[in-house]
Amino acid sequence: MSTHAVHSVEAEPDAAVIVRQLRPTAVQVHVFRLDQPIIITIDGPAGTGKSSVARALAKRLGLDFLDTGAMYRAAAAIALDYGIPITDADRLVETVKQADLHFDWSADPPTILAWGRSLSDRIRQPDVTAIVSPVAGIPALRQHMVAKQRIIAQQHPRLVSEGRDQGSVVFPDANVKFYLDASAQVRAMRRAQQLRAGGIPADEQQLLREIVERDRSDMSRSDGPLVRPEGGIVVDTSHLLFDEVVSELESIVRRKAEEP
Ligand code: DC
Repeated sequence: MSTHAVHSVEAEPDAAVIVRQLRPTAVQVHVFRLDQPIIITIDGPAGTGKSSVARALAKRLGLDFLDTGAMYRAAAAIALDYGIPITDADRLVETVKQADLHFDWSADPPTILAWGRSLSDRIRQPDVTAIVSPVAGIPALRQHMVAKQRIIAQQHPRLVSEGRDQGSVVFPDANVKFYLDASAQVRAMRRAQQLRAGGIPADEQQLLREIVERDRSDMSRSDGPLVRPEGGIVVDTSHLLFDEVVSELESIVRRKAEEP
């Protein structure tokens, strides 16, 4: 694997540079130890391999892994399965509260439960994927999810938390904040490969259009939009293998943990 320099965000973009540090936050925790409470956030658009990378990184560092997308997907599944129109935000949020979403941490990866029942398979189905972005744009729902995620972090204080707003909104003082990125073309190609590997035919141009539209929707909502968090480390995964990304993140965390 090639070596990658950490560049300031002001530097000219360079195809060879895949890691760069965004402007540091005013209050930034510089000193931390890997055997103490630690929060690492991983944000970024769909198709960058975030979830798998976050899970693998958590394993390598002996941390818990929180998939916050699963929480929004669970809300979307509840809307569909209980016939709640997503325009009826009050009813949807009330029902999601009653569902008492939480994770079964004995499973690997942790299983999301609603009313004590697993929604793991349901949340990956295409009808859920089709409506989850507008569901995730409901401000009152985001408020509820953010509060829940912070409670989870209290109960699991050694955590890799993955989503869209983890470094920017939920855990702005996280020890290390990553933003995984990749070109829309590469993400569409990866998604097509994934589908074809599962025996499902895939139209790459159509996938590309969907990805561009989902990015637009996730980035343009007023509440908790997908942004590069202040002080975050941007890693472009376009030309890296999965293991290379995980190793890069692991070495950055270990290097930072050793900082005086
Ligand atoms: O990462 P994913 O595809 O499972 O996420 C599902 C949707 O939820 C996606 O539209 C982005 C949204 N999401 C969000 O708005 N905030 C998060 N913290 C996590 C996911």
